Amino acid sequence: MRRLGAAALAGALLLALAGCSSEEPAAEPSTVTTTTAVAPSATTAPPDPSTLRGAAAGRGVRVGVALQSDRLDDPAVAELVATQFSSLTAENEMKWPSIETERDEMDFTGADRLVDAADAGGMEVRGHTLVWGQEVGNGMPEWLDGLSSAEVEDELGEWIDTSVGRYAGRVDRWDVVNEPIALSGGVVDDNVFSEALGPDWVAWALERAHSADPGAELWINEHSVEQQPEKAEALIALVEDLQAAGAPLDGVGLQTHAFSGQAPPPGTFAQLVERLRALGVAVAITEMDVPLVGGTTETTQADAYAQIVGECVAAGCEEITLWGLDDGHTWLDAFLGQERTDPLLFDRDLQPKPAFDAVHQALQR
Ligand code: XIL
Repeated sequence: MRRLGAAALAGALLLALAGCSSEEPAAEPSTVTTTTAVAPSATTAPPDPSTLRGAAAGRGVRVGVALQSDRLDDPAVAELVATQFSSLTAENEMKWPSIETERDEMDFTGADRLVDAADAGGMEVRGHTLVWGQEVGNGMPEWLDGLSSAEVEDELGEWIDTSVGRYAGRVDRWDVVNEPIALSGGVVDDNVFSEALGPDWVAWALERAHSADPGAELWINEHSVEQQPEKAEALIALVEDLQAAGAPLDGVGLQTHAFSGQAPPPGTFAQLVERLRALGVAVAITEMDVPLVGGTTETTQADAYAQIVGECVAAGCEEITLWGLDDGHTWLDAFLGQERTDPLLFDRDLQPKPAFDAVHQALQR
């Protein structure tokens, strides 16, 4: 397995990503030079095609990673992220229950940190996520339970206004509604939001986010769409309904957690992306991981990554985001109840796996 080449990154960028103050006293220079060396910044240096970020840029595609902000305290992680990725997603720290743990007390510390790191590294930000289709407790604050419809509407409106407003011009796109499709098919119609706002609760959230930052792209985001044909139909119907209602919808995110450790049948992903794009919305992979479960090996994992990413980019996806950086930090170990699922592109020592090469090549094709 090859090692990544050393990245030429500005010291200031690394310090910013590692959360260190750039105001720390600099060491005394031993000589005074007449020319000032200008370190390349992530925004001005030409993209390095040996990186995911550079390969993706060559295709006009973003490549992103989801992280907890404290991981950037590790300079090796900060450097790897800044070198390889052009978009950041907060794995949890922009979710409503993370920020407003207690009603009317919002703490944006972790979210701010990620947005600052993205700015310092010339990365874009995918805001994840304002509203979750599932029941209270699963992605939404527990304290919503028991509120009146008017109170839910007020709280949701204030949450969207405050978070989208806070990052206006800095968060490029929001996953406004996460997982709007019910297991039974159709839009979720039995959660706290549909009960408070009625069947058009998804459009309501999009409108509200649009008012808070008219410049941000607004997305909906769904899981297992490529695995379940009935879910794909329901999602496409929702996009059509939202468009017919004039709701501000820019894109559809496909989470792409490949829980089975395998890609769907060849062509499935491309067809899904093509159908969505034919409706005039942007499409992205927003949360990809491929666990080693059942008979999946590092080689077949790499094949699955290559197939899915290759089909997605060829069909016009504009972003590929991985749900985590390295195998030592993945939600899937707990979610699948397996000691190690090793679902990502980098191993526990931050070294690239065959899956890294597969994605890198798929981005270049
Ligand atoms: C997951 C995080 O990775 C976990 O750390 C957390 O405990 C639960 O949420 N779909 C989504 C993500 O949209 O927000 C989820 O993230 C994974 C599934």
